[in-house]
Amino acid sequence: MSGRIPKKRVLATVAAVMGIAAWQAPAASASVPLQYTTNRYVGSAVAAAYLASETDYRAVLTREFDNVTPENEMKWGTIEAVRGQYDWSGADAIVQYAQTHHKTVRGHTLVWHSQLPDWVGALPADELRRVLRDHVTTEVKRYKGKIRAWDVVNEIFNEDGTWRDTVFHQKLGEGFVADVFRWAHAADPHAKLYINDYNIEGINPKSDAVYNLVKTLRRQGVPISGVGIQGHLSIQYGFPGQYRENLARFAKIGVETAVTEADVRIPTPPDAAKLATQASYFGQLWDGCHAVRKCVEFTTWGFTDRHSWVPDVFPGEGAACLFDENLRPKPAYFALNP
Ligand code: XIL
Repeated sequence: MSGRIPKKRVLATVAAVMGIAAWQAPAASASVPLQYTTNRYVGSAVAAAYLASETDYRAVLTREFDNVTPENEMKWGTIEAVRGQYDWSGADAIVQYAQTHHKTVRGHTLVWHSQLPDWVGALPADELRRVLRDHVTTEVKRYKGKIRAWDVVNEIFNEDGTWRDTVFHQKLGEGFVADVFRWAHAADPHAKLYINDYNIEGINPKSDAVYNLVKTLRRQGVPISGVGIQGHLSIQYGFPGQYRENLARFAKIGVETAVTEADVRIPTPPDAAKLATQASYFGQLWDGCHAVRKCVEFTTWGFTDRHSWVPDVFPGEGAACLFDENLRPKPAYFALNP
């Protein structure tokens, strides 16, 4: 982190001296883009298709963020839906964009039960292990040196802290986690390697399970660097309890944390009061990350209500992002960047 603080300070100072025109910020947005206000990586999930087709989408992403996470382009189901037929086009485009614009990339995600091709699920155990090893090695090697951090395993626990019943757990046992971290590390020794999950913002049985596993893996010398806290919240359910304490306990055992997929859903239609509650939730997520040692990244799951997974997956909820459909910053944006 330390190397980044001066860069941000210098850029913010330059911005102030030159005036906001240097950043081509529209009148409605804050004078300094979000990425220059913090010494944390600040990112968004991004879709290659919109990056290619929507100039305004691309401009706001470029202006406000310094990390990108491919929303679907690096998932197994995207890159190898059919065995042996790889499609790297979306992932390559996002990594290329990041390199051109000096943004870091969060790789998402190597091992996940969802968006997993059926052919993988159908493999017998010994073959599954070989295929998994190939998958992790091939993908990590392809982007070696270009990915700051990988979500190596995603969503491996249930809400009560038991292991999720996935093909990997069923056929390979709990040891698949240590294996995939070791394979990823061998393929790119400099990439930070994370375990990622949702509903682990606060202290609860699920975050306890993550905490205990990470502690065990570290003791065994498994190369795990951090815990990704997705941060998918809804204003209907209250802000998670003991968020800062949770971040702090991970710092104490020597691992980084990152908010990897923040969004805050609103029962539609949004109104001023709901937007204010949303702003408060985003603000608490952001402030907590800044208050706790080793919380190194704050990434949102998309930045505009124009393109968000929320309405598709949570009927009756929406408006979960920092910018509205027209890319105007919402109260939540100003909670982060007053
Ligand atoms: C979501 C994408 O946003 C959607 O486009 C896709 O249809 C389903 O997956 N947790 C994760 C992300 O780790 O990969 C998910 O992304 C959202 C929940």
